[in-house]
Amino acid sequence: MGRTNSLVRAAGRGALALGAAGALGLGYASLIERNWFRLRHYTVPVLPAGSPPLRVLHLADTHLTPGRRRLIEWVKSLDAYAPDLVVNTGDSIAHPDAVGPLMEAFGPLLDRPGVFVYGSNDLYAPIFKNPVRYLWRTSGKEYRRRTVPDLPYEELGAAMRAAGWLDLNNHKGHLKVGELTVALAGIHDSHIKRDRYEQIAGPADPAADVRIGVMHSPEPRNLDAFTDDGYELLLAGHTHGGQVCLPFSGPLVTNCGIDRARAHGLSRNGPSWLHVSAGLGTSPYAPVRFACRPEAALLNLVPRT
Ligand SMILES: [Fe+2]
Repeated sequence: MGRTNSLVRAAGRGALALGAAGALGLGYASLIERNWFRLRHYTVPVLPAGSPPLRVLHLADTHLTPGRRRLIEWVKSLDAYAPDLVVNTGDSIAHPDAVGPLMEAFGPLLDRPGVFVYGSNDLYAPIFKNPVRYLWRTSGKEYRRRTVPDLPYEELGAAMRAAGWLDLNNHKGHLKVGELTVALAGIHDSHIKRDRYEQIAGPADPAADVRIGVMHSPEPRNLDAFTDDGYELLLAGHTHGGQVCLPFSGPLVTNCGIDRARAHGLSRNGPSWLHVSAGLGTSPYAPVRFACRPEAALLNLVPRT
């Protein structure tokens, strides 16, 4: 009897310790790491010999709600790095009233050359989902039942276009950035089947100094299409870098077709360079990040060696 009682007490202490560790981990993930923003720096050799460097600020997945003051102020502060070009790969808002706060966050960055595409979350308001389901299926299936956008994505796009940013949703174009001519092409979000690569297909402008492909979700068939058309740098978000990761390990899931090894950071897609951002935000219904800090990236484009 005495042995049984001590076993029960030990099991109770174990359960308490486990509960306390879980609560501590959840508190850290939602209160600390979710607001522990960082700017990552990469050097990418994609320019012609003799070109001056080109600083590209890659913003992704801000999922902004109006109350996220720390996120708004941090994004605003990035103007101090004087990027030559800003690329926003979508999932910018997560609330019907978030367009104004997002424009406040972009602030002085809007005076710089910029481009954007949409992500699914710019069109559809966040809904509660069982977070464990995320481990074995992508969120793409839920959009089959949601066909009428309920977030102000048109207002969002109009605000960025009004600032002079180029809308790359199934469009392409050029920007003169300093001394360099940049050819850009982008697609709408493949996660909700709005990508129409055929509308931008064809060889990227060989006369430009650099060719950049922009998308929200790094779906392999689209990555390969951009690469085959000669885009040297591909930029995407969407994966959140896994959002909840095991320490010192990669993401558990990518939420799209890309392999886990390339779901975050700088990698290659054939001869092209690929940067996938872990992004800055989270769904308001899953406000945690673990071993995957929120981030933006400053890509310093330099001449090929
Ligand atoms: Fe996202």
